[in-house]
Amino acid sequence: MSLKDMFERLEEKNREAEIGGGEKRIARQHEAGKLTARERINLFLDEGSFVEMDKFVTHRCIDFGMDKQKIPGDGIITGFGTVDGRRLYVFAQDFTVFGGSLSGAYAEKVVKVMDLAMKHGVPIVGFNDSGGARIQEGVVSLGGYADIFLRNTLASGVVPQISLIMGPCAGGAVYSPAITDFIVMVKNTSYMFITGPEVIKAVTHEEVTKEELGGAVTHATRSGVCHLAAEDEKSALGLVRELLSFIPSNNAEDPPFTPTDDDPLREDESLNEVVPDDPNRPYDIKRIITSIADDSYFFEIQEHYAPNIVIGFMRLGGHSVGVVANQPAHLAGCLDIDASIKGARFVRFCDAFNIPLIVLEDVPGFLPGLDQEYGGIITHGAKLLYAFCEATVPKLTVITRKAYGGAYCVMNSKHIRADFNFAYPTAEIAVMGPDGAVNIIFRNQLKEADDTVAQKKELVDDFRQTFANPYKAAELGYVDEVIIPRQTRPRLIRALQMALSKRDENPPRKHGNIPL
Ligand code: HXC
Repeated sequence: MSLKDMFERLEEKNREAEIGGGEKRIARQHEAGKLTARERINLFLDEGSFVEMDKFVTHRCIDFGMDKQKIPGDGIITGFGTVDGRRLYVFAQDFTVFGGSLSGAYAEKVVKVMDLAMKHGVPIVGFNDSGGARIQEGVVSLGGYADIFLRNTLASGVVPQISLIMGPCAGGAVYSPAITDFIVMVKNTSYMFITGPEVIKAVTHEEVTKEELGGAVTHATRSGVCHLAAEDEKSALGLVRELLSFIPSNNAEDPPFTPTDDDPLREDESLNEVVPDDPNRPYDIKRIITSIADDSYFFEIQEHYAPNIVIGFMRLGGHSVGVVANQPAHLAGCLDIDASIKGARFVRFCDAFNIPLIVLEDVPGFLPGLDQEYGGIITHGAKLLYAFCEATVPKLTVITRKAYGGAYCVMNSKHIRADFNFAYPTAEIAVMGPDGAVNIIFRNQLKEADDTVAQKKELVDDFRQTFANPYKAAELGYVDEVIIPRQTRPRLIRALQMALSKRDENPPRKHGNIPL
């Protein structure tokens, strides 16, 4: 064969691989409002940066006539490239080839890039769009999934793992994304569930659509499985590119530094007005977050799930930080089961990847109620406590108003290794709120009072004066400084710059036993 023939043969083979399941199936994919696997990769990565691997791999199944249906690549595109010049591995399931279903050979391709991602210390991003285990391959396919789950677990906390859900993701196949750090879904075209609507109808007689059962909105609002829900595929890809800009490539690196023109000493007079005079009036904690962030930009995660706690990324003086903030505008900022789980997982992600934590605290306590107690708020609340306790990254807290009861301890108190704790003059730090406290410790006195209302008001005012302020804590050094709210950004940036060189560690052990 001449050189020319050899090159032509390669071109021909490349063309064959790149067409995947063929023009008709590609057209069907587009009609469904979806891009193809290859289009997704090309849109996601920096232009021209994609290097494909294992393009000519085919499956080895001979049952059900599969030996006559071999498509190069076998329904999964794998390789590496860059996002904003930073390296990462990708895999994209190609729905046009056997519905993107997973064979043994396909799983080996995924495992190969996952192993390389770990070895090279770079993130791995997966594009999921698949009918799950390839039925014709039986247990080989199931074994392939298990091989991937193992890699997901071993890579957890070593390199960031991000899953984009861009089509069906059913059965056990949801568990690979579930182990990864972030799940991004596309509204109306992607769904995740253990069993589909048909099976649910047969087993429990409940009728539900695919979208209601496992669509992006469901998982972004009800289950919390989805961290970011995008309107369309292009926006989903943009969200992941942005997410990557806040996080390091592996657990031995610091997050990327992004120079900013936003003055680190910038004060914001309007912050003095954010916390209302009336301690029971709600306000939006995001007003404070956006005020202190570089360029007022906050990249929120799980915005519509457990909104009583706010989590996400921002930059302070160019440094990427994770924010955990109680939200007085929802459930008065109480910690409930969902908020505790949401906060805990985020804290652990930041800690695993050297991302400092900024905590804004206004929390009346854990949410009381039968639902919460029966649902296990004890165990779930302990997750957040455990996560903050074990975190060794720089940890800064600002108490804006309430820091009551166990929630005071949980929300990154000094006692659990926070580096700097600030409080606004409006802070109230006590075992419980003045009303509840007075009812308990002055019960007898109130019973005997001539004018119970007047007496109670007096006692509440007195309690507030004595305990519901930041000064007891400041006298004891539990709060390092009481600050005027307008100074929040400069104070936090100065403190962060001090804490960035922090070296702290936990005792040697196989692993802790977080209350799961
Ligand atoms: C082999 C599959 C397949 C599968 C789809 N296809 N799923 N081939 N194994 N699991 C093929 C179809 O035969 C079809 O081939 C093509 O992919 C497109 O599928 P359609 O059904 O035409 O597409 P659509 O109507 O969009 O429906 C998509 C779908 C449906 C909802 C995903 O195909 C489906 O329900 N598939 C089965 C899902 C499933 O139960 N998987 C197993 C889950 S259990 P042609 O040639 O016609 O284009 C599992 C275990 C994981 O995954 C183990 C981990 C522990």
